[in-house]
Amino acid sequence: MKILVTGAAGFLGRHVCRRGVAAGHAILGTYRTDRADVSGVDWVPADVTDAAAIDALIEATRPDAIVHTAIGLAGSLMPLAAERNWITNAVAPVHIARASVRHNIRLVHISSDAVHRGRDEPYGDAAAPDPIYSYGAAKAAAELAVATVAPEAVIVRVPPIMSGGGDDLADRERFMLDLASGRADGVLFTDEIRCPIAADDLADACLDLAANDVSGLLNVAGSDVMSWYDMGRLVVAKQGGDPDALPTGTHASTRAERPGRVVLDTARARTVLRVHLRGLREAYAESGHGAESGHGAESSQSPESGRGAPVPIDGHRDR
Ligand SMILES: NC(=O)c1ccc[n+]([C@@H]2O[C@H](COP(=O)([O-])OP(=O)(O)OC[C@H]3O[C@@H](n4cnc5c(N)ncnc54)[C@H](OP(=O)(O)O)[C@@H]3O)[C@@H](O)[C@H]2O)c1
Repeated sequence: MKILVTGAAGFLGRHVCRRGVAAGHAILGTYRTDRADVSGVDWVPADVTDAAAIDALIEATRPDAIVHTAIGLAGSLMPLAAERNWITNAVAPVHIARASVRHNIRLVHISSDAVHRGRDEPYGDAAAPDPIYSYGAAKAAAELAVATVAPEAVIVRVPPIMSGGGDDLADRERFMLDLASGRADGVLFTDEIRCPIAADDLADACLDLAANDVSGLLNVAGSDVMSWYDMGRLVVAKQGGDPDALPTGTHASTRAERPGRVVLDTARARTVLRVHLRGLREAYAESGHGAESGHGAESSQSPESGRGAPVPIDGHRDR
């Protein structure tokens, strides 16, 4: 297949490109500022906020499928971020969806678990969004727009994405390493719960979805239900650091408006996808890591340090 990946130089985009090239697909990767060091990709500059340019690109290249990962995260936890990122995160997906319909091209749109405010019970695929901050609100608006304009598209709600033990680390993993070594100030919450996914698993799921006709909202997440702190322990142990050096804190003790427990029910994904959606522990264990596999599933008993900032949703600090 010929697959157009937007945001191809970003974290998920790079993984989709690598796995796509390895699977024998022709990958067109769009970049805004810089290309990524991924071989076998046909790189094209594109700004997804430019509707005419996106339409022209799609018309000229005629991909079989589009995987839309591009996202603007500048200051996404800050009050003005909604305005700053709205065009990229809520409006640009409409341009992509319109072009996909006009040219009859399969669309895999990437959304986020940030559309949810958090609750005890798992969220089904079609759970109505109830975001509590600007990034989640923009992602929710994009979902609605894409579903309206391109009802045959699949809209993939994804949890925090981690390397899963691979060499290409997420920004949040580097931050976790810096926290453990004292190079960064902050804490990892023990009571903020997600079901993180290994980037390669999500990339393979995107490629599966590019080739099938699943439509509508679909949760795609890992099978482990974990706190940020437990994720941090895996990352730090994998890199040979001391997980016990990680500073901890609690969501409950902060005044920040952040989702607490967000668990995605992936029953449908597990029936429609060929990829096995691993838990993060399994992914790290398979990558050669062994020291941290037995740590508690959802929370730790560590005291709250009260220092600095937590890891924001989607792993990006103040960008
Ligand atoms: N990472 C996570 O844990 C996570 C969790 C849930 C959902 N998601 C979703 O997964 C998708 C990918 O996230 P990611 O973490 O891979 O993001 P990322 O690493 O920040 O990459 C996003 C890419 O989009 C590009 N981009 C930004 N504005 C653009 C524009 N106007 N036109 C074209 N490209 C533009 C960026 O290019 P520049 O760097 O040049 O600006 C960057 O390469 C997003 O839809 C996100 O909402 C991610």
